[in-house]
Amino acid sequence: MNRREFLQFLGISGVLSSVPGCATSSLSFASATPSWGLPPSLEDKLITSPGLNYKILIKWGDQINLKEKFGFNNDFIAIHSLTNNRALLWVNHEYVNPLFINGLERTKENVDKELLEVGGSILEIQNHDGQWSVIKNSQYNRRLHGNTKIPFAWNKKIAGSKKAIGTMGNCAGGKTPWGTFLTCEENYDLFWGDVDRSGKITQSLMGWDKIYPRSPEHYGWVVEVHPETGKSKKLISLGRCAHECAAVTKGKNGKVVAYTGDDTNNEHLYKFISQSSSSLKKGKLYVASLEQNRWISLDIEDQPVLKKHFKDQTEIQIYAREAAKLVGATPLDRPEDIEFDPLTGNVFIALTNNKASKNYYGSILKIVEDNNDPASLTFRHETFLTGGDKNAFACPDNMVFDQKGNLWFTSDISGAEINKGAYEGYGNNGLFVFLRSGEYQGEVVKVASAPIDAEFTGPCFSSDYKTLFLSIQHPGELSKSLDKLTSQWPDGDIPKSAVVTLQGPLLDKIISGKV
Ligand code: FEO
Ligand code: CA
Ligand code: CA
Repeated sequence: MNRREFLQFLGISGVLSSVPGCATSSLSFASATPSWGLPPSLEDKLITSPGLNYKILIKWGDQINLKEKFGFNNDFIAIHSLTNNRALLWVNHEYVNPLFINGLERTKENVDKELLEVGGSILEIQNHDGQWSVIKNSQYNRRLHGNTKIPFAWNKKIAGSKKAIGTMGNCAGGKTPWGTFLTCEENYDLFWGDVDRSGKITQSLMGWDKIYPRSPEHYGWVVEVHPETGKSKKLISLGRCAHECAAVTKGKNGKVVAYTGDDTNNEHLYKFISQSSSSLKKGKLYVASLEQNRWISLDIEDQPVLKKHFKDQTEIQIYAREAAKLVGATPLDRPEDIEFDPLTGNVFIALTNNKASKNYYGSILKIVEDNNDPASLTFRHETFLTGGDKNAFACPDNMVFDQKGNLWFTSDISGAEINKGAYEGYGNNGLFVFLRSGEYQGEVVKVASAPIDAEFTGPCFSSDYKTLFLSIQHPGELSKSLDKLTSQWPDGDIPKSAVVTLQGPLLDKIISGKV
């Protein structure tokens, strides 16, 4: 019996559907939902399971030093430990909602302000008696933004230049074995439009290109950032697309391997195998064929079809999507985050949805590389988890494993569709955990519910797993004006994205495998 039938059976569905925050739904109750699993909610609140507490670490507009502020729409989070109780946090700032910055008019003044809101922040944080706080004015605190000059790590110019101005569209990312942060430029066309190989240019939605014409080829890259200096470079080697993330590990030969997905309907999953064990600059880019269970080279010397269509390897890197299609890459349902299972080494890829193909709920794909070697060119694959009725989640996005192999993941039902149409009954976006052991092994349990219009992003554990850092992104993004706010989270005022820390006895139990 599904939830709706169950409620009808009890004769209370009409009552419950009129209670705000208590959505009726077609979701079935899991066979063994623990008492701390949250039901769907439509409240303008960050709700956490009993035993899981949250505190705001930093929010949009907070001063991080004398000159700079924490940017808009925080997303991916990565941590770099300095000592036992001090660390550097990297936080992405994906895009801006002009309504909340200086207004919708596309003037130079407004665009200048918006350029400083995107990119990323580096923050020094300290732990006192188990609680994390930002050290304001730390020498490490800095912003990368839409005007930061960033060189290309490549031996040729990109669209006539050795460097780009700015990074934006910074969605998810990764960390390298040598401790640098990777931040991924996803929907760069929002800001600069795009250009194809025939020179046809599309205009951007944000209208920044009207004020500052910049080459679209300079965006859509994975950017590597040194945690302590903020020095950065764009990694041409990983190709150009709407990069969601970059997940880095090492092959059995010690060489670095990076997986990255292109989050657009019917785009692809890439893997880069470096020549080096400590750099992502040189190596070979591959793209996945799930039909053939293999990684197909995008190297011009390996592929006559690429040699015919492209003038050199640089052009292949810039138009990676086009090259991928020429060699027979598998179209996927919007590959988002990628993580490695700490228990098996398998590669997990969130395929969030593909509404054009009527896939509304998404799934999580598992790739098992042959010989369990990330540098392998062949693999097998299966669907690990599907969204929808059975598991009571939709649109998986960012993921993180804990030390026991529990998979924590967020959902990203787009703001305009929350609890509507195919998503009726799912309520606001959430944070879920797939339990790997114990009484609820194999269950997906919702442990946090986001405020109105928001999604959770960037889940990241502290090194002792006692804290889960989490971004709350774009609350109130559907607000039509400052007088008609759809959310007032967290201050009862203009909505603000924020980073929170999640802690508590429930987290301690889950990460020790004791639930
Ligand atoms: Fe910015 Fe694919 O999420
Ligand atoms: Ca995302
Ligand atoms: Ca997303």
